[in-house]
Amino acid sequence: MTNESGQTPDRNLALELVRVTEAAAMAGARWMGRGDKNGADGAAVDAMRNVLRTVPMDGVVVIGEGEKDEAPMLFNGEMIGDGTSPSTDVAVDPIDGTTLTALGRGNAIAVIAVSERGTMFDPGPCVYMEKIAVGPSARGTISLDKSPAENLHDVAKAKGKRVNDLVAVILDRDRHDELIEEVRDAGARIRLIPDGDVAGAISTAWPDAGADILFGIGGTPEGVITAAALKCMGGQMVCRLWPRNESERKQSIDAGYDLDRILDQDDLVEGNDCFFAATGLTDGDLLKGVQFDNTGCRTSSLVMRARTGTVRMVNAHHRLDKLKDISSVDY
Ligand code: FBP
Repeated sequence: MTNESGQTPDRNLALELVRVTEAAAMAGARWMGRGDKNGADGAAVDAMRNVLRTVPMDGVVVIGEGEKDEAPMLFNGEMIGDGTSPSTDVAVDPIDGTTLTALGRGNAIAVIAVSERGTMFDPGPCVYMEKIAVGPSARGTISLDKSPAENLHDVAKAKGKRVNDLVAVILDRDRHDELIEEVRDAGARIRLIPDGDVAGAISTAWPDAGADILFGIGGTPEGVITAAALKCMGGQMVCRLWPRNESERKQSIDAGYDLDRILDQDDLVEGNDCFFAATGLTDGDLLKGVQFDNTGCRTSSLVMRARTGTVRMVNAHHRLDKLKDISSVDY
């Protein structure tokens, strides 16, 4: 990313982006357990957009809340940031885990990823993709051309473990019944997650999270965001678009997508200048959720940059009484 004078600035945009995910998490966390996932998402979107306005970049939403017609804010193609350089692509998920939030379950996070303009993969009509993800110690071992058992064997070898020591993270969905059987037959342990495969994938790269590999079919927007995170952490991801039906398949082919193509983290987010921030909404394997107290709340965030590989944990206390004076968002 270059500035107006053509030099590469050494500014870590992620340190500004964490304010965006903190705001989304604080607003969304007020809806925890209230059984209203759209209410939670709306609050997080409002808060995210409010703070995004102040971030020094000329950003375009590539992965957002959907097309303009169905999403009033943070829609794909919306320009965000304060309009100054650098020019960026932006992927947002104000809440990955809206149902987790609505039900008060763990592992809901607010997420943003930013990269140089023109470097983020636009998944087009395909809502889902097949994914495998691992952390840096198993980088280079996974492939969609191998069976789950072969992938597990190679991950175990790279990590100096036995297959039955491994934990595979899989979204708890009927479409994964066969995959779950294959992983069980191979002898690995499984963490079935109700939602939230961004946090699930990141947990494979996080030493204390007790996960080794993520398998399964999940959202394409979440896939692009995960790719940015794993680039920062030195992990690996392989995926392939997975149309839900004939009409989605046809739409994707007509739009020029190669449905056999295997994409990795560098296809989903090209280049090495990307930034990632996530803040916990509800308590999770990676991050504590938002904790309210008598003056405000505490947040816990992950802030990362691919170029340097720096991974920061940012714990913050926010004085919500003071914030009320300067923000229209109800935290
Ligand atoms: P939302 O928070 O937007 O509901 O997404 C949660 C999520 O679990 C993602 O993490 C995952 O990629 C996707 O939904 C899976 O989709 P589906 O619930 O349709 O299987």
